[in-house]
Amino acid sequence: GKESLILGIETSCDETSAAVLRGGREVLSNIISSQVEIHRQFGGVVPEVASRRHVENVAVVVNEALAKAGVGLGDLSAVAVTYGPGLVGALLVGVTAGKAIAYAKSIPLIGVHHIAGHIYANFLAGGMEPPLVALVVSGGHTELIFMPEHGKFQFLGRTRDDAAGEAYDKVARSMGLSYPGGPLIDKLAAEGDPEAIVFPRAWLEEGSLDFSFSGLKSAVLNTLHNAEQRGRKLNPSDVAAGFQASVVDVLVEKTVLAVQKTGVNNVVVAGGVAANRGLRARLRERAAVEGFSVMFPPMSLCTDNAAMIAAAAHPLYARGLFHNLDLNAYASLPL
Ligand code: KG4
Ligand code: ZN
Repeated sequence: GKESLILGIETSCDETSAAVLRGGREVLSNIISSQVEIHRQFGGVVPEVASRRHVENVAVVVNEALAKAGVGLGDLSAVAVTYGPGLVGALLVGVTAGKAIAYAKSIPLIGVHHIAGHIYANFLAGGMEPPLVALVVSGGHTELIFMPEHGKFQFLGRTRDDAAGEAYDKVARSMGLSYPGGPLIDKLAAEGDPEAIVFPRAWLEEGSLDFSFSGLKSAVLNTLHNAEQRGRKLNPSDVAAGFQASVVDVLVEKTVLAVQKTGVNNVVVAGGVAANRGLRARLRERAAVEGFSVMFPPMSLCTDNAAMIAAAAHPLYARGLFHNLDLNAYASLPL
């Protein structure tokens, strides 16, 4: 039959994004309007500001995505939208836009979990085959998830405090770097000595797949503070390298443990921190030694985008799993 055309919409945080996906796999367009410049002056995302910007942007971004794909609203098979987790005011804008389109065109509405979207960015990167373990690392999430088959998810572990990306952003801020700090620390770390300053690793209880980054964040802040008080100048590259080594060490070793516990052969990484070069290198190295495969989405699909939302909706579309027009937005939402 005719190949599906799914419009994806993502407004859970500070990017307004719309994408058109053909046949569940082919990205015809993926428009991302980032608010990062607006939030930078506040050092982080301001929810109220984000919501208002989404209201201004969403119709423009949807139209751009359709135009770039060369399709009209009337050609769509379904509309998929992120309905949680995230900033509820921001989510509501996308959910309302999705509902309006579904209602106007009498097409199915599919609500997508933001984390499922991040995981499915790997599907666009060249087909991911469950069973697998997904490491989801972003500004809001740090989770290890077992995916026995398409559309099924089980949590193996999660952060008990800060997300990995959040730790990057907070440490960057205390070093006087701008928001978002992850990419800047990643770059600095490449020039530093990871053994010059050794920061703690939070392994938690024996065998635990949970994470904790707030102790590490405090350790970095204390180190910076103490050096300043003694009038000592630390090399920012060494601080970045030491911090990154600690984050990467814990992320990689817990992922290896998750692979051993579940007995799978495939790992996919997702979320903004999946762009981290240190993480990519170390996990590839360990995967080669342990004998499992590891996939990362292309850099452009690691951070928030609507193509991944449409991709996660495709298996639901194929199975006829739709939402009603009373779909709501949720700040927290089980996977
Ligand atoms: O997935 P994402 O766009 O938004 C959330 O859903 O949170 O992730 C954004 C996060 C930010 O914390 C940012 O600092 C981090 O991803 N990030 C990185 C890198 N690129 C983005 N962290 C470490 N290294 C990077 N190269
Ligand atoms: Zn995200």
